[in-house]
Amino acid sequence: MSKFEALANGSRRAFLQLSAAATAAMAFRIATEASLAAEERNVFHPGAVVIDANENPLGPCDAARKAVVDMAPQGGRYSYWLKEEFVKTFTQMEGLKPDYVRVFPGSSEPLHFSVLAFTSPAKSYVTADPGYEAGMRAAQFSGARVAKTPLTKTYAHDVKAMLAAGPDAGLFYVCTPNNPTGTMTSHSDIERLLAEKPKGSVVLVDEAYIHFSDGISALDLVKADRDVIVLRTFSKIYGMAGLRCGMAIARPDLLAKLEPYGGWGAMPITGLAAATASLKHEHLVSERKQLNAAIRQKTFDWLDRQGYSYVPSESNCFMLDTKRPAKEVIDAMTARNVYIGRIWPVWPSYTRITVGTQGEMEAFQSAFQAVMKNAKTVSYAPAGPIPTANPGPWFLPNRQRVAHKQANTVCRGAALRRPYLATPFPMERFCAASESTPQACASDVTVFGDSFATGPWN
Ligand SMILES: Cc1ncc(COP(=O)(O)O)c(C=O)c1O
Repeated sequence: MSKFEALANGSRRAFLQLSAAATAAMAFRIATEASLAAEERNVFHPGAVVIDANENPLGPCDAARKAVVDMAPQGGRYSYWLKEEFVKTFTQMEGLKPDYVRVFPGSSEPLHFSVLAFTSPAKSYVTADPGYEAGMRAAQFSGARVAKTPLTKTYAHDVKAMLAAGPDAGLFYVCTPNNPTGTMTSHSDIERLLAEKPKGSVVLVDEAYIHFSDGISALDLVKADRDVIVLRTFSKIYGMAGLRCGMAIARPDLLAKLEPYGGWGAMPITGLAAATASLKHEHLVSERKQLNAAIRQKTFDWLDRQGYSYVPSESNCFMLDTKRPAKEVIDAMTARNVYIGRIWPVWPSYTRITVGTQGEMEAFQSAFQAVMKNAKTVSYAPAGPIPTANPGPWFLPNRQRVAHKQANTVCRGAALRRPYLATPFPMERFCAASESTPQACASDVTVFGDSFATGPWN
């Protein structure tokens, strides 16, 4: 039963109960973009603008649709050879040997299996933050320490920091373009990671979004037999998230390590047929890449004109700075039937926006403008560097909610009187801190709520 049907059938309650049970079970299963997005909300209303899960609103190309229809009558058979045909098509295109590719229904499974295979309580999982969360969830199964490193100033994976964070690493996860920021990590940084990583560890390069970008794939490093696994999916540029096809591409001995965990079930033959047809479509990737880039750029131009800030992206998603706790913006947008999100705790005033169709992005713009126009933004940034000693009190009324941009942290909570800061720290700590404790705060303060009074820095 679809979410729409659940609503239409009047069985919303049953659906929500199911969803609640699903959420409780979440910690024990493979995390996927779909499940992570669904954790945030349960039901879409008719006419909803859904730009919350990095899906492709175009769906499969015409050739892929035809392949699905043509394949449907064979649905009673496993047709294993279709997998071989698909692998042959892909490996010939990429100059790879067929035994360097394993096919899965999407790339979530090989991501999860890679974490299980290469991490353990003694071998950590090293990732970027904000970064795609599925591997961190998988590390809960393997019992691995999760080492999260902030992105660089250009929002690339900080390879140096990742190496420093994982002297005991079993797996380094690099998502490029990154989910959620849509920013790139260079090929040379991946090479550096491979050259300097601890012996026996593996680099997992997730190229789910690579086709949207100008990035250089790491497939050449696979061909060179390095300790690297590349993940690809047909869920993004190919618009096949619901049809399912993905791959792990690596040296056969690395792929063999994933085998005990699964991947031997039959593939959906419609997914294989559609994926093969998509690969054979000569201009599909270039056309869709261009279209996505054009809509993304128009959206950025609009955000620039309106004075909103965001992280420039090379992908089909980007991080938007809401300058207040982003959850409140997500909820307000939901009330306008525009579904955006989600939030990464390390950047609590940002939310991820998926690039949809031009029409969807226009609907997003009007809803976002309406939501934001009630917020009062005030900049209190002192000239020059942020002082390192408490500059004196700010007079923020109790229970005022405040968001600020500095270091991507958010100050919020009751009894905010003396926002000050040297280092960013999480919202929880801020909320728990007492009035007299020196607190974090800096530039670009957005205040929303009723009354507001403030004093200068000193
Ligand atoms: C970075 C990244 N990797 C892997 C996946 C897995 O997608 P799928 O299982 O649909 O192939 C996703 C889905 O959004 C993703 O964002």
